[in-house]
Amino acid sequence: MTANPLAPAWLLPPADANELPATVWSQNSTRAASGMLEVAGVSASTLAAEFGTPLYVMDEADVRVRAAEVRACFDREFGRVGSAAKVYYAGKAFLCTEIARWVTEAGLYIDVCSGGELAVALAAGVDPARLGLHGNNKSRAEIDRAVREGVGVIVIDSLIEIERIADAAARHSRVQPVRLRLNSGVHAHTHEYLATAREDQKFGITLADAPDAVARIRFHDSLRFLGLHSHIGSQIFESDGFVESAKRLLALHAELLSGGPIPELNLGGGFGIAYTSVDTALPMPEIAARFADIVASECARLGIPVPVVAVEPGRSIVGPSTFTLYQVGTIKDVEVTLPHLGTAIRKYVSVDGGMSDNIRTALYAADYSVRLANRVSTVQPALVRVAGKHCESGDIVVLADYLPGDVAPGDLLAVPATGAYGWAMANNYNYLARPAVVAVRDGVARVIVRGETEADLLSRDAGIRPDDVTAPTGATEQGAR
Ligand code: LLP
Repeated sequence: MTANPLAPAWLLPPADANELPATVWSQNSTRAASGMLEVAGVSASTLAAEFGTPLYVMDEADVRVRAAEVRACFDREFGRVGSAAKVYYAGKAFLCTEIARWVTEAGLYIDVCSGGELAVALAAGVDPARLGLHGNNKSRAEIDRAVREGVGVIVIDSLIEIERIADAAARHSRVQPVRLRLNSGVHAHTHEYLATAREDQKFGITLADAPDAVARIRFHDSLRFLGLHSHIGSQIFESDGFVESAKRLLALHAELLSGGPIPELNLGGGFGIAYTSVDTALPMPEIAARFADIVASECARLGIPVPVVAVEPGRSIVGPSTFTLYQVGTIKDVEVTLPHLGTAIRKYVSVDGGMSDNIRTALYAADYSVRLANRVSTVQPALVRVAGKHCESGDIVVLADYLPGDVAPGDLLAVPATGAYGWAMANNYNYLARPAVVAVRDGVARVIVRGETEADLLSRDAGIRPDDVTAPTGATEQGAR
């Protein structure tokens, strides 16, 4: 089969449009003998019938295994170089009480970046000492609560915050451990960083301002300086940026040791995952080994002890675990005229969700892939664009992939790798209800976050008088339960 000229260059017609590439799908996703997509022994059609669509379907064991793996890799590698590691799960990728418990059981700490995320972690029963609080504009109330609850570490993001956190700690008669977030000037996208002195962005403080900031932190009896922090970006496939950032931070770390001990160094998160079959993510053992090697060799060069190294992955722990299950509603073959190439057909397949359950495509032109979930088909693949049901032409879930050409209304579609920043960034645009999240493990599916109902959608409208509305149905047209 020849490629559709409307397809991006990287997307080749598949040998088998039903295949589930292991790099993109969760570890327990398979095709049953019937052709049906199954996760941990539960079929896509059972999930759709029981919980409705759209639906986030999470492979629980996949999350637990990845959380345990990242911890084991970093423990092993930093043990090898005579130190230790702390792995924080970045809750912004997807936080609910169940996930907070899973990652805690795997031995991870949790990074929260707002009062709301802090409340979820506390509601899950996570020991506050295992939490880190981030944010470039934490409110006084957020700082106060974090200090009062005994949050393990607060990451200072600006000079203004030093006094705010010191005051809160003094008021609560606590000594609050803090890190200092730096804008190391390293760009995440590989070699570009080499020429860049400073990133034009809101997070952290410059390396030049750091010595003064650390002196101010050390001046306060109510603060304990735990170390420097840097997060260079997200969805990173190359290790060069991390290496450069570690070098810059360790040079400063070594300089600051003259003023007192610095037990830790936090190198942030951002490890990339595969969204399509052409993405190649670095395996976690390799990431951990490279981090340990660079930190150890730089420390040896600088003649300083290797600090405890903290990392904060979010996407790489939950991203690959989840697919979003949709039902096809309408299909249109749209003829597109291409200069010098004549015409080509792009099949628009519209599903019952869209930019309200996955805004990453609209926001970042992120690529995803898609598969038929309720059956397989050997009909010649067609280039498709999976669109949502919102009143906006940019409401696309999958920009381009091939599906069997007989895809039809009523079919179920599954879009993999939606576990990170999917539900977390879901919204109610056009009054669509946010879908439920179902965790599947060992043949059992259970709701871990319920879907919104029509009653939820109306519940905050202060203008509604009881007589004006017919009793909410309890479920929306989308079937959220
Ligand atoms: N630590 C800090 C300080 C962060 O800001 C982030 C992500 C992480 C850790 C976790 O990064 P991860 O390992 O998940 O890449 N909404 C965007 C991603 C924004 C990431 C924000 N910070 C997306 O959907 O791609």
